[in-house]
Amino acid sequence: MEQTYYLTTPIYYVNAAPHMGTAYTTTAADILARWHRMDGRDVNFLTGLDEHGQKVAESAEEHGMTPQEWVDTIAPTFQETWKGLDISNDDFIRTTEERHVKGVQAFLQRLYDKGYLYKARYEGWYCVHEETYYTESEVVELDGVKVCPECKRPLRYDNEGEENWFFKLSEFGDKLLAYYEEHPDFICPETRRNEVVAFVKRGLKDLSISRTTFDWGIPLPFDEGHVTYVWFDALINYITAIGYGSDDPEKQAMFEHYWPADVHFVGKDIIRFHCTIWPAMLMAAGLPLPKKVFAHGFLLTKGEKMSKSKGNAVGPADLVRIFGVDAYRYYFLSDVQFGNDGSISMERMVQVYNADLANTWGNLCSRVLNMCGKYFDGQVPAFPDSQADAPNPLRDLAEGLYAEYSAAMDVIDYSGAADAVGKVCTLANHYVEDSAPWNLAKSEETADELAAVIYNALEAIRIMAMFYAPFMPNTSAEVFRRLSLGDIAGIDDVEAAARWGQLPAGNAVVKGDALFPRLKIEEISLEGF
Ligand code: MSP
Repeated sequence: MEQTYYLTTPIYYVNAAPHMGTAYTTTAADILARWHRMDGRDVNFLTGLDEHGQKVAESAEEHGMTPQEWVDTIAPTFQETWKGLDISNDDFIRTTEERHVKGVQAFLQRLYDKGYLYKARYEGWYCVHEETYYTESEVVELDGVKVCPECKRPLRYDNEGEENWFFKLSEFGDKLLAYYEEHPDFICPETRRNEVVAFVKRGLKDLSISRTTFDWGIPLPFDEGHVTYVWFDALINYITAIGYGSDDPEKQAMFEHYWPADVHFVGKDIIRFHCTIWPAMLMAAGLPLPKKVFAHGFLLTKGEKMSKSKGNAVGPADLVRIFGVDAYRYYFLSDVQFGNDGSISMERMVQVYNADLANTWGNLCSRVLNMCGKYFDGQVPAFPDSQADAPNPLRDLAEGLYAEYSAAMDVIDYSGAADAVGKVCTLANHYVEDSAPWNLAKSEETADELAAVIYNALEAIRIMAMFYAPFMPNTSAEVFRRLSLGDIAGIDDVEAAARWGQLPAGNAVVKGDALFPRLKIEEISLEGF
């Protein structure tokens, strides 16, 4: 049976429009989804929106709308942004959807029936912006005001004087530690793993999972006056989207088919929710745990975390207008080592664009396709038998590409995967330079050599286009069109497709316009980046 690959992004809050930070996670997940599809897996790629909670309710009020009206206004901006970035998600979940509400209630009922929920009085510090509770020791004091350790906004002291429902999270500390120990790859990268282990070792407290002070949330099935704490509701999206809690046997089969997830992508800010609360919830429900949670770092501009609320978030569409969607995707995932924080800037983006894309990949395609036009009337030359034993460094390197690239993708190392292709690309440019086809074309005696050089370069381009496709789907599709090859999106066995020598002789080759026209930093201005 085809191997499945289920991957998810966080579901984003709808209190603000998507920005480069949220686009970063989504693009990362998309690249991996595209890779696994090409590599023959049955991929399910989920993203979506977190639509409940006080923050959303407050934003709605500020805009003079009901919460539902507000989330319905914002949801399309996410869908459009993801479309604009060529995100190939298979599903899009919104937590106000019936399938989610029903699934959450089924999950809560299960925890209740198993005795993992109890009622008690709650009081403590709460940050509405982060939708997070903080203990006294976590709270930070600024000018005599208790503020959130994450966003530094003033905290609210919740002392509702009434009872809330609690989840017995404290019972899961040892089980979680044992699980991390037995599954060393569960939390990636390792620094995050160490951080979570240390956090759990300090002891977990039971978690308040319901509210009675507002009603924008999912009612507890066994105590209707309470709505579910937004994080408890949100985490469950990873299973409700694939049919958990559904009465439909087809949906139930889907859950069996895709769960457990192969990877949940998250930013480092929300690792505790995903690596402590979520696995404990699944353990309590008796469900398998996801195979991996990968926490990437923050994108920083001028040393600060990018976020809509800090006002330093240029929209992805602004950059796509300048660089094109492929270069956008390539820059963020190749230049920032996934897992670490990464500084991004316009200067650096232009530099990477010109170096890797305009001068290397784009340049290689233009000159080789151009020479094929000039020397072979725009048709792929047959590889001459006389050249079969000649050294072929390009072939050697291209043949190793699948192994190197897939090993990098296995550990979710985008820079490593992009570099593997980049190396072949640089070598191909040198190969063309060193072989000097313009000299070989001068004499009949070197006609076979000329045909071999052009064939090799075109074949290397065909192979590179496939490996660049998860990062840059449009330009790769365009390269395939220019080589009169089939639909690149249909490839589902890249290992076989990338074997050397499959470019058919005689295929029409079209030169076309520059794939990545060079950019000058002086000609670009974009406030805030
Ligand atoms: N709704 C919760 C997630 C629930 S998942 C069950 C949430 N939403 S959020 O809209 O605040 O999105 C947070 C996520 O956005 C981060 O974890 C990260 O994936 C992404 N990023 C937001 N700002 C970012 C940067 N500056 N840099 C990188 N990623 C960032 O938390």
